[in-house]
Amino acid sequence: MDTSDQWVRSRTGIAQRYVLRSGESLLEIACTASRTALERAGLSPKELDAVVVGTVSSEYGFPSFACQLQHRLGADSGAAFDVAAACSGFIYALSVADSMMRADGFERVLVVGADALSTMVDWRDRSTAVLFGDGAGAVVLVPDSGPRGVLGSLLRSAGNHWELLTVRSTGVRATLDAEARRRADDAIQMRGPELFRIAVRSMEEVTREVVTRAKLNIDDVSLIVPHQANLRIIQAVAERLGLPREKVFVNIERYGNTSAASVPIALDEALEQRLIKDNDLVLLNACGGGLTWGANLLRW
Ligand SMILES: CC(C)(COP(=O)(O)OP(=O)(O)OC[C@H]1O[C@@H](n2cnc3c(N)ncnc32)[C@H](O)[C@@H]1OP(=O)(O)O)[C@@H](O)C(=O)NCCC(=O)NCCS
Repeated sequence: MDTSDQWVRSRTGIAQRYVLRSGESLLEIACTASRTALERAGLSPKELDAVVVGTVSSEYGFPSFACQLQHRLGADSGAAFDVAAACSGFIYALSVADSMMRADGFERVLVVGADALSTMVDWRDRSTAVLFGDGAGAVVLVPDSGPRGVLGSLLRSAGNHWELLTVRSTGVRATLDAEARRRADDAIQMRGPELFRIAVRSMEEVTREVVTRAKLNIDDVSLIVPHQANLRIIQAVAERLGLPREKVFVNIERYGNTSAASVPIALDEALEQRLIKDNDLVLLNACGGGLTWGANLLRW
């Protein structure tokens, strides 16, 4: 491929990635992440009321990834469903799960971000093949009568930009419509530079808004855990928000863009590195195909 390690590192910040080998399963990785989250929460899978998965990498058209994960975990009751918002999948899933708890009495919800976009790239297309990695991350939400929890979420989409990032092969339209099938391309197609500009603008906006709505200031935020799509996007957003480097978590150099998995993987590493303490304000944000973008503000 006509690229170089130097180009990839300097234009994206990526030095290493993990991709699924043939025979490996994203479901298995999601299961491991979910079991670890459940252990840390002191819960067994059977105690879950719901499994909500942000993913665009379900093995089948249906059943959903979430139903398959629920079964693998041995949960087998409650609700399980996927939220399709590409790289914003975890942000959307967390917001939906939080709303279910507030509105519908759900008490213990497993929220997962899992994607394997390496399985969807055309490995001859240098503009996408160098970017994506595979992975999964999970959190468990439980009720808390104190100040901790999701203080607010904001979800946004701009369907008018849907063509900037697509995988057209698996949609129902491609199987029903012969004309669409002829035009369908199996691989990810991305208009990277346009996406780059919109990602910076939209992630800045949604971050400011979610903080303002909670009647707080950006300076009150202890740590931003952003979607890891491109180091230069993360830096540009941080700069526009006036945030110092130490308040922005970055691990893209070791994982690449893992889509919906990137925020929960980063969150876990931030915790392992003890960058988040009790009562800290933590902000998660992302932008991805759809286009979709959003943010969650958490009191840890
Ligand atoms: C894809 C991306 C890394 C390209 O970087 P960029 O700074 O926008 O692009 P640049 O303007 O520097 O460079 C574009 C040029 O690099 C080339 N290029 C793209 N990939 C390359 C690669 N792997 N190696 C070498 N050259 C490459 C392009 O062909 C283009 O060449 P041209 O100008 O001759 O047409 C960047 O746009 C990006 O990360 N976009 C957002 C992607 C994203 O977030 N996707 C998922 C949604 S969350």
